[in-house]
Amino acid sequence: MYPFARKKYNIHMIDKINQLLAEIDSLKAGKAEEIEALRIKYLSKKGEVSALMNDFRNVAADQKREVGIRLNELKEKAQERINQLKESIENNQSSDDNIDLTRTAAPVELGTRHPISIVKKEICDILRKLGFSIAEGPEIEDDWHVFSALNFADDHPARDMQDTFFISRSPEILLRTHTSSVQTRVMEKQQPPIRIICPGRVYRNEAISYRAHCFFHQVEALYIDKNVSFADLKQALLFLAKELFGADTKIRLRPSYFPFTEPSAEMDISCNICGGKGCPFCKHTGWVEILGCGMVDPNVLENCGIDSKVYTGYALGMGVERITNLKYRVKDLRMFSENDKRFLEQFESAH
Ligand code: DAH
Repeated sequence: MYPFARKKYNIHMIDKINQLLAEIDSLKAGKAEEIEALRIKYLSKKGEVSALMNDFRNVAADQKREVGIRLNELKEKAQERINQLKESIENNQSSDDNIDLTRTAAPVELGTRHPISIVKKEICDILRKLGFSIAEGPEIEDDWHVFSALNFADDHPARDMQDTFFISRSPEILLRTHTSSVQTRVMEKQQPPIRIICPGRVYRNEAISYRAHCFFHQVEALYIDKNVSFADLKQALLFLAKELFGADTKIRLRPSYFPFTEPSAEMDISCNICGGKGCPFCKHTGWVEILGCGMVDPNVLENCGIDSKVYTGYALGMGVERITNLKYRVKDLRMFSENDKRFLEQFESAH
C-alpha cells in the first residue's frame, strides 16, 4: 500500500471512532430490551466497535498507537454508557414500581415551642382572664418612651451607655431596656380605661453569663381607670402567682423603688421548689422574687396626657426567663438562646 492510501485509511478510522463516540454519548433507552439491542449493535462480536477492532490490523504501523488508544477509549465509553443506561432504568424501576401508596409517610420531626414562648404565652393567657389584652411596641425606641416619660431622672444610671445600647446619641435612639416603653405609647394614644399586657424582647448592655444576657424577655401589665387601688393590684398578683405556680403559692410584697411607680413593690412567691421550707435555691429564705410592681406615678400619667386627678392605675413587670427558670429549673440562661435541640426538645406545649 502507498503511504497516501494508508494515511487516508487511518483518517477514515478516526472519523468513524469520533462519530461513534458522539452517537454513544447521546444514546437513550427506556427499557431493558432496548439496552440489550444497543449492546448488540455496538459491543457484540458483530457490533460496530468490534468491526473497527477487526479493521485495526490494517492500520499502518506508525499510526497504530494513536488509533489503538482511540479505539480502546471508544470501547470503554460504549461499555460505560450501556452500564449507565442499565443503572438508570434499575433506579427508576425501584421508585416507580415499588411505591406503596398505603404506607405512612416518613416521620417528619415536629418542632416544639421555645420554653420562653411557652411561659410568655402562659403569663399572657392568665392576664387575659383578668380582662387584659395584648399591646406591642417597637424594640428600637427613643429616650422619651423608654425613660423620660416614665419619670427617670436625667442622671438615672439606666441612661448610661453601660446599661443601655444606644444606636445614636442625638437624637437618642436606643434598644428598649424594658417593655414599660409600650405603656407610654399606649397611654399617649388612648384614654382610660386601659388594661394591657406588653410582652416582648428587651436589651441591656450586660456581660453574658449563666445568670445575665444582653437580651431577654419581659411581660408587663398596665391597668388604668377611675378608682384603681393597690388592693386591686394585690388581688391580680395573687391570682397570677397561683395560676403560674399552683394554688398553694403564697405571695409577699416588699417595698421597692421604680421611677414610674409610687408606691413601688417587689413581689416574692413562696419558693416553689422547697414549698417555703428553705433550700439552696431560695437561699434558705423560703421566698423567691419574681416581679416589680406599683401604682403608676401621677407624673407618668400627666406626661402621657392622662389626668392624674381623675385616674389611677397599677403596673407590674416581670422577666420571662426568670419565671421559666423557676418553673423548669434551668440553671443557665444562655441555654435559651443557644438553639441546642437536646435542650429545646425537652419542652412540650399543647399549642
Ligand atoms: N420595668 C421594670 C424593669 O425592667 C420592671 C417593672 C417594675 C415594671 C415595676 C413595672 C413595674 O411595670 O411597675 O426592671
